[in-house]
Amino acid sequence: MQRRSAARLGPLLLLLLLPVAWGAGPEPPRADGELQVSSRLAGQAARVALHYLNYRLGSPSALRALGQVRKATVKTIPGIGHKYYLQFTTEDYKSSQNVGTCLATVLYLKRKPRPAVNINCTYTKDQKQTREDDYSFYKKLRQQTKPITGNDIPDSYGHIEPALEPAWALAVAGSSYLMWEKSTENLGYFMAQVKNVKQWITKDDSIDFDYLVILHEIPTQEMISCHLRVIWTPGHPLKVKYFCLSENQQSESEEGSGTESGSTNGIFNEEEANF
Ligand SMILES: *[C@@H]1O[C@H](CO)[C@@H](O)[C@H](O)[C@H]1NC(C)=O
Repeated sequence: MQRRSAARLGPLLLLLLLPVAWGAGPEPPRADGELQVSSRLAGQAARVALHYLNYRLGSPSALRALGQVRKATVKTIPGIGHKYYLQFTTEDYKSSQNVGTCLATVLYLKRKPRPAVNINCTYTKDQKQTREDDYSFYKKLRQQTKPITGNDIPDSYGHIEPALEPAWALAVAGSSYLMWEKSTENLGYFMAQVKNVKQWITKDDSIDFDYLVILHEIPTQEMISCHLRVIWTPGHPLKVKYFCLSENQQSESEEGSGTESGSTNGIFNEEEANF
């Protein structure tokens, strides 16, 4: 009896409590100054900077994930938005080994999507080795006579078939573009799974993949399906087009070609940004 009424009250209570927890609007309350390094907003901003980096470098062998936030400060720029100053460690996306520290600024603009990012990182991995890894990766994909196709990467056990690893790594790099674009101060994204992938064999020297990816939105826990087209040539930024359907079926599409605002000083050859 008691349990039943509690269960029924649950959703109602949540509805009543939500507006209080979130303040008057959808923005969590915040003040300028240092943030706790473990705070969600600090981690979210650091991930936005890494989405931008992973997309801009377009290097499947150099994908980074967030290690630990070491320092985070936020400043309100009146009329423009909130700017985060961050220092964090990074891990290799696959091996989880430490691959260097990054300094970044992330500016969430009030009236524009797509946070403005500036990021500089140190490397523990040899740059020449990274380029060689990218190239052998590329060669493998070019030598493909039958297009790669696959479903559910990783599978429900978290396993990635070795033959599908290159396709998956390019999905991570490509989805980084759209996760960077969609991110706001309050909403962050993870690429949960590649639902399916299909390679297009091209006549030029690019690698071309079509994907259906599932993004996990936090803190809403919503799952968003996005169609993604990723075109890659080593040493060049990725070309990405996407089209997303969220649960409420609102659709949006965008495309990128590595020439957007923001910068990755000291780690990116700007001349290579032009196609
Ligand atoms: C990255 O380095 C450039 C050039 O040294 C500098 O102008 C920029 O402020 C740095 N960015 C960050 C976020 O530290």
